[in-house]
Amino acid sequence: MNILLTGGTGYIGSHTAVVLANAGHSVVLLDNFCNSNRSVSERINQITNQMIPCIEGDVRDTGLLVKTLTEFKIEAVIHFAGLKAVGESGQEPLKYYDNNVAGSISLLEAMKQVNVKTIVFSSSATVYGEPQYLPYDEEHPLNPINTYGRTKLQVEEILQDLAKSDPQWRITLLRYFNPVGAHESGLIGEDPNGIPNNLMPYIMQVASGKLPHLNIFGNDYDTRDGTGERDYIHVMDLAEGHLAALSFLQNHQGCETFNLGTGKPVSVIELLSAYEQACGQKLPTKLAPRREGDLPIYYAKPNKAKEYLGWMVTRGVADVSTSSYRWQQMRDGLAAS
Ligand SMILES: NC(=O)c1ccc[n+]([C@@H]2O[C@H](COP(=O)([O-])OP(=O)(O)OC[C@H]3O[C@@H](n4cnc5c(N)ncnc54)[C@H](O)[C@@H]3O)[C@@H](O)[C@H]2O)c1
Repeated sequence: MNILLTGGTGYIGSHTAVVLANAGHSVVLLDNFCNSNRSVSERINQITNQMIPCIEGDVRDTGLLVKTLTEFKIEAVIHFAGLKAVGESGQEPLKYYDNNVAGSISLLEAMKQVNVKTIVFSSSATVYGEPQYLPYDEEHPLNPINTYGRTKLQVEEILQDLAKSDPQWRITLLRYFNPVGAHESGLIGEDPNGIPNNLMPYIMQVASGKLPHLNIFGNDYDTRDGTGERDYIHVMDLAEGHLAALSFLQNHQGCETFNLGTGKPVSVIELLSAYEQACGQKLPTKLAPRREGDLPIYYAKPNKAKEYLGWMVTRGVADVSTSSYRWQQMRDGLAAS
């Protein structure tokens, strides 16, 4: 199948490009590089031994999307492009609604114009908000507590309405939990600009000596070791979830939602220890007060994805740590050269 990946040089998009290309699909990447780098596409080519087209452009440019969808005879789109920093979304809501919501409308307009009606959308567990119960299943009430989460929910609702308006649409909403890890080659991985917002890239920068210590925000939560617990999913497992979602859409019209998570919460201390084991050094930490808005624990019920998509995770925290460490060494090498 010919598949367009918006945000295709980003963290999850790049790993998904590898999985799809290796499964025999023809992949086209489109990215405005606001949070990635063109060199990622060269490294995807290196891993897959293919020349994957990479278009520089913005999803809000409907004309460019129409041209790209037509030129490459695209049959399905995976829509990764978006902004994802929760803190920044509260400070700059218009930027987030414009990029994430208006960007999605522009893409859907273009798809409608050229009659491409199959889309996988990158949603997020943040749409659930404060847990009413755990694990979150897809029926859990939706009440995001930040602007970023609301942009994701709005796009979900737009896609639901679209599916209702025209039965030809084939849509999956994938609610990701906490993606971590890197491709086993060490050639691609998460590469945030500035100080990372997420735990794993932060740990990696402490290990590289770029940051002095890891702050542990609260060790008195009602969890196994007192630190926050999250559902960390290996990015390659997540990437494989997109392949499974596309196969599902071959035989299903309408709009279906799936959690992509492991179902097993892991604490800050557990993730840190696994990384220390992979890199062979003890990393400096400091205890800091709880951060406002941080939930003590949340994790997915991934059963629906298993039942409908035939997908489940095959990698654990040790794979996350070894692949992240390989990626860290590669990045440190790139930075030094
Ligand atoms: N990483 C996570 O923790 C996580 C969790 C849940 C959901 N998601 C969602 O998954 C998607 C991919 O996330 P990621 O972690 O790979 O993020 P990322 O920032 O690494 O990738 C997003 C890519 O989209 C590009 N982009 C942003 N706005 C664009 C625009 N207007 N036009 C074209 N390209 C644009 C960026 O340059 C970047 O390469 C996002 O929509 C994100 O909200 C991510």
